Amino acid sequence: MTPDNGTMNGTICLVTGASRGIGKATAIGLARSGARVAIVSRDRKRGEAARNEIQNAAGNRSVELFLADLSSQESIRNLAAAVANRLPALHVLVNNAGIIMAERRLNADGHEMTFAVNHLAYFSLTHHLLNLLKKGAPARIVNVSSEAHRRAPLDLDNLQGEKLYRGLEAYACSKLANILFTHHLAERLAGTGITVNCLHPGVIETGLLEDYVGEMNRVIRWVRPLLRPFFGDAETGAGCSLYLAASPDLSGVTGKYFIRQREARSSSRSHDKVLAGRLWEESCRLTAI
Ligand SMILES: NC(=O)c1ccc[n+]([C@@H]2O[C@H](COP(=O)([O-])OP(=O)(O)OC[C@H]3O[C@@H](n4cnc5c(N)ncnc54)[C@H](OP(=O)(O)O)[C@@H]3O)[C@@H](O)[C@H]2O)c1
Repeated sequence: MTPDNGTMNGTICLVTGASRGIGKATAIGLARSGARVAIVSRDRKRGEAARNEIQNAAGNRSVELFLADLSSQESIRNLAAAVANRLPALHVLVNNAGIIMAERRLNADGHEMTFAVNHLAYFSLTHHLLNLLKKGAPARIVNVSSEAHRRAPLDLDNLQGEKLYRGLEAYACSKLANILFTHHLAERLAGTGITVNCLHPGVIETGLLEDYVGEMNRVIRWVRPLLRPFFGDAETGAGCSLYLAASPDLSGVTGKYFIRQREARSSSRSHDKVLAGRLWEESCRLTAI
């Protein structure tokens, strides 16, 4: 689903992970509907190529590129400052960038990479852009999660795989963290005119799994052609993000989880308020917020 042409004229949106996959398709959909779109990429060459492609596909020149490595808290702070310098307000923030890492790797902040990119970046970029979102209110935050969250053995004492690391489990935990964050943030933002919702985009053929190095990848390479008919394309994957970003039906709707443009019930753990509160505190500590 793409919002109709012109329905987002005057709206300013920011999409992370827009150099490819679901994020790029989301940026195209938003630009096509007339929005001014800021995209975030960690690589200038890939980012410029994506910006040009989005502009051409959407027939809209109002697409700007910001560079940031979303695994790094310093880079996120610099990104938020650059965005605040450049944009007068923000109406839609789509936290979309994501990774799966087969091996446990720490970044320069000492954070495990999957947790850093998939959760801490959503958490801290949102915080650093809150003033800009308040200027844009009514404003919307869209967090791209996954049905994988149902398999998450989220252990606050092993948030960064210190005790045990398995790539797919770390990914699932980070996607559960997206939903816990959404629920907790929705409560905190009550009355501000900023809503926050999250979603599963479907099973979509993108580079996400391709980049997942290790045992799984060898298996996937073999079975991939057989699985292809079950995968959606990036445009289909962007449908729910676009719905949450733009649909007038969702005005005032907050703290919800969606699949295929419909509200869905996320796992019971994702509704655990104590867990959400403790994750929030730990995320504040790790991001120095
Ligand atoms: N594909 C699916 O079936 C599926 C299912 C459920 C949920 N999701 C979720 O959908 C979202 C988008 O995934 P996708 O499938 O579109 O994956 P993708 O094609 O691999 O795209 C991921 C995007 O994130 C960016 N990114 C990764 N690490 C980054 C970093 N450190 N700094 C800045 N940008 C970074 C990538 O940029 P580079 O080009 O620089 O790598 C890329 O643009 C993710 O949150 C994922 O968890 C996907």
